[in-house]
Amino acid sequence: MCLISEYLAEESQYPLFIQGNSLDILKKISDNSVDCCITSPPYWQKRQYENGGIGLESTSNEYIDNLYKVIEEVRRVLKPSGAFWLNIGDSYHNKSLQGIPWRVALRMIDNGWILRNDVVWNKHKGGFTPNSDRFGSVFEDFFFFVKCDKYYFDADSIRSKPRQAFVKNGAVISATGVSGIRYKRQIELSTSLSDVEKTNALTQLNLTLERINRGEISDFRMVIRNEQRTTHSDSVKLSGRARELKEKGFYFLFYNPKGTMPNNVWEILPEDTQHRKTHFAPYPEELCIIPIKSTCPKNGIVLDPFSGTGTTMKVAYELGRKSVGIDLSDEYIKLARQRICQKSKNFLPFP
Ligand SMILES: C[S@@+](CC[C@H](N)C(=O)[O-])C[C@H]1O[C@@H](n2cnc3c(N)ncnc32)[C@H](O)[C@@H]1O
Repeated sequence: MCLISEYLAEESQYPLFIQGNSLDILKKISDNSVDCCITSPPYWQKRQYENGGIGLESTSNEYIDNLYKVIEEVRRVLKPSGAFWLNIGDSYHNKSLQGIPWRVALRMIDNGWILRNDVVWNKHKGGFTPNSDRFGSVFEDFFFFVKCDKYYFDADSIRSKPRQAFVKNGAVISATGVSGIRYKRQIELSTSLSDVEKTNALTQLNLTLERINRGEISDFRMVIRNEQRTTHSDSVKLSGRARELKEKGFYFLFYNPKGTMPNNVWEILPEDTQHRKTHFAPYPEELCIIPIKSTCPKNGIVLDPFSGTGTTMKVAYELGRKSVGIDLSDEYIKLARQRICQKSKNFLPFP
């Protein structure tokens, strides 16, 4: 029997909460049934949660072994197109940072998970406070894993709003102020480009400015041999860009007219520093928005096997996705249900 099959068949998008040990509960959920898992397990030796649970092991190896059992169940219940977002913090032991996030991530990679990004959640505050003999730490890892190399990813849903090109003194200027004048001058004065290369570069530059004028692109950059600094390899064997520079003397970078994708440093203040009326969770709602929008389709289902006060479920509900939250603590589940206006389904006492 699949524990969530009835829920999946329903039209309602209120979350389903299940109280119990996530390893036991996950075993009752069918293979390939959820689209996206977002979770923050208890960190090692940080906090005593109700009813014990993960995190109280006497060694970090034991903790990682226990957590890994849950991670493998998550892999089984995730659809092949699914994504797994894992927020995990580190711990100090005998004065040494334990490297727990990466020890978990490396074990996952060794076992076939594909790590697409290590997103740095820059909390700015909180974390480990500075000591007289070490620095403070204000970031946590938020790993973006997938099961298979082809997976659901809606990039357009998370692009920032594109800035528009504009006209100034009769000239078309790109969204970030590029008018082409500087590039034209660099091409004309270049001692590195041949006459033919200069003609080609100027022609392509004019065509690009016309495309901006027509609104086909909002921004671009031009890289001209020996004029702009590049970050790619200089080796023409390793880099297509280096080959273009060698063969043509220039290349263009075009910005997506639908907007730019976020990078892998997310600036989000921790929940308890955001001066909200109610403070529920160590994990802010903002952290779940990009993962849900980009990796859970509209009719999809989000899972959080350590759902705590239900932050993942709340954001999933607000973004119109179904979700299943599992937590050992019935107190937390009650809180989570209150937080989602009591609209969520009654929690299922696990048989
Ligand atoms: C870091 S908190 C999650 C916080 C959550 N992201 C939120 O926004 O409130 C970890 C949660 O894992 C739960 N937990 C610990 N061990 C568990 C287990 N074996 N099975 C299910 N839940 C567990 C704890 O009760 C706690 O609520």
